[in-house]
Amino acid sequence: MDKKNIEQTLVLIKPDALKNSLTGYILSQLSEFHTGLRFAGTKIVHVGKMLAEEHYAEHRGKVFFPSLLEYIMGALHYPDQPEKHRVIAIVYQGPDAVKKIRDIVGPTNPHAAREQKPGCIRALGTVVPIKDTEGNVIGERMDNLIHASANDSDAEREIKLWFKPNDIPPFMHSYSTEASRDFYFFRENKLCTKEEPGSRCFIVPGETAWKSDLETLRLQQQGAPASNSFESVVAKYLINEKPQTT
Ligand code: RTP
Ligand code: MG
Repeated sequence: MDKKNIEQTLVLIKPDALKNSLTGYILSQLSEFHTGLRFAGTKIVHVGKMLAEEHYAEHRGKVFFPSLLEYIMGALHYPDQPEKHRVIAIVYQGPDAVKKIRDIVGPTNPHAAREQKPGCIRALGTVVPIKDTEGNVIGERMDNLIHASANDSDAEREIKLWFKPNDIPPFMHSYSTEASRDFYFFRENKLCTKEEPGSRCFIVPGETAWKSDLETLRLQQQGAPASNSFESVVAKYLINEKPQTT
């Protein structure tokens, strides 16, 4: 299969879309009939802080960042119903996957979406003022229903952040994988390679992992700089795990 045909992109159906029962509509808009793209992976994710921060790492420090995290974590749309805090994460695959989906999704700002591209998915979103503790408006948040990767390198980073290789059928893998030869444990936000009290094992020998993740872990162990953060590797292994009580 040539590279063009296995192009992949990440879609997140965000909490505001779930709350407004727009899931079916969004899936129809993105269906193989309309886009020529196929499902490569899908999961329901309770989004933790680490995953949210890694997903939106490029917006760290911006005025809307804390609100953006609360939004994707579901806390804004379901303040009293933590059991409803989830998003639907989907990998679509096929020719021009990134561009095709971004076109149907439309501009980031729902007001601009309504003006510039009536009928696009984000035309159904809304813009919400962000206030400080005194009630002064300090910015705005865009509740735009859906995330879609912006380009090929974002798609690779994001798919590897949300999905493990074995969440995707092996014949649909677009990125290199490798079988781990080691155990990796996670304890108090740190990597450890031996079991310690309160540690959680997230990779075992023989397990298939993204090659780039294993490279990051090996560099981290050596104390050498890695291009990806340790958190970006471990966050996917903590998806839908119960928080540790120890
Ligand atoms: P996304 O990543 O969610 O697909 O959206 P995007 O590429 O169109 O926009 P991006 O710049 O990546 O922003 C990510 C999300 O952050 C919120 N945002 N708010 N107040 C603002 O100026 C602002 N800018 C971005 C939106 O919810 C956007 O989807
Ligand atoms: Mg983006």
